[in-house]
Amino acid sequence: MTSLKPSETPTSAKSIARAALARARRRTLALTECLTDEELTAQHSPLMSPLVWDLAHIGNQEELWLVRRAGGRPALRPDLDALYDAFRHPRANRPALPLLAPDPARDYVGEVRVRALEVLEGADFDPDGDPLLAEGFVFGMLAQHEQQHDETMLATHQLRAGPAVLDAPEPPAAPPDAAGLPGEVLVAAGPFEMGTDTDGWALDNERPAHVVEVPAYWLDTVPVTNAAYLEFIADGGYDRDDCWAPEGRRHRDEAGLRAPLFWWREGDTWLRRRFGRTEPVPLDEPVVHVCWYEADAYARWAGRRLPSEAEWEKAARHDPAEGRSRRYPWGDAAPTPEHANLGQRHLRPAPAGAYPAGAAPSGARQLLGDVWEWTASDFTAYPGFAAFPYREYSEVFFGPGHKVLRGGAFGVDEVVARGTFRNWDLPIRRQIFAGFRTARDAAPGEAG
Ligand SMILES: [Fe+2]
Repeated sequence: MTSLKPSETPTSAKSIARAALARARRRTLALTECLTDEELTAQHSPLMSPLVWDLAHIGNQEELWLVRRAGGRPALRPDLDALYDAFRHPRANRPALPLLAPDPARDYVGEVRVRALEVLEGADFDPDGDPLLAEGFVFGMLAQHEQQHDETMLATHQLRAGPAVLDAPEPPAAPPDAAGLPGEVLVAAGPFEMGTDTDGWALDNERPAHVVEVPAYWLDTVPVTNAAYLEFIADGGYDRDDCWAPEGRRHRDEAGLRAPLFWWREGDTWLRRRFGRTEPVPLDEPVVHVCWYEADAYARWAGRRLPSEAEWEKAARHDPAEGRSRRYPWGDAAPTPEHANLGQRHLRPAPAGAYPAGAAPSGARQLLGDVWEWTASDFTAYPGFAAFPYREYSEVFFGPGHKVLRGGAFGVDEVVARGTFRNWDLPIRRQIFAGFRTARDAAPGEAG
């Protein structure tokens, strides 16, 4: 998804919005049509909603924000508002609610979508008009919302027991130069612009743009691989108390952490379960399904640290030649299949070193796509933050409880994947598609 630039005609801005909504809906339906009604209404993990809750919740949010708020239309199913309010019902309690059955849920989201597209036809995207409609923001917001639930639904598929129902081609192999890449890249000291004022579909927490001074640092060229993570395990990393923060140590012991989620060992072989299939852990793939505490412990074991959020974004966006921040690591052009592993085109991360066309000016690869990357940073407001369109979107999550993830995984759509996008989660979470890369301060004289 490109940003909606003022030079674009309303027609093309609307076709971008229409395409983003249609792409999200195709994915939602693909993730739900492959399962029986019984599986859609079951709870596959107490961490997750039944898939049929996500489905109708997607429609309910679209009704609330597009049809009623932006479109000024009467309510279609006001009786559903409380049922599908994510703040009212924790995920673990949702199976007990009188939810719509799968077919009525499909009918409901379809009826909402018809009305939403009518609102889109008549909408005025004037950048100086209603802030909800300016540059089509609310359509982008709902497309992103649906895609983020699709990613959550993909995580539910990964947690589900039973035979495989999803299929996708393999991601590209690592290119010939992957084995010879330097282990880390140097990002020179200096200011860069973090966040955005100009991206029409950026969410409130990505705003406003502000200059951040970042000392020189080294960043891993690629995300930490399974091979590297296995060295940490083999070296007793899980038992090395000196590598674990006190809260991490406590959580490790309570939860019995010994390896990434979905891994187990048979003899000398590490296996994993991936969307219903069992396979040997692929050594050259970025590690995924580790919590923040595991990522932090690995980094300490390696004599390094997690990058701050600002360090991650500077490596991903700062163009030292032009002295400006890009939308993506490779420039401002929308992602193609050559740039990054996005959009659930594949059901796994690509090998480390893949996607040379998506490299950042720093030389780092796979910053977007493949795996979300834990950063060292707590989720906080940028200076000058203003909640929009509602406090519950981001503001209520600010604080030390949530850690920021950046970059987006293989199941993230391009409407979400951009250099400024901020994801956040609890440091204990492992069912999300999260890995990490490590960093270190540059020594004096290495400052570049
Ligand atoms: Fe939601």
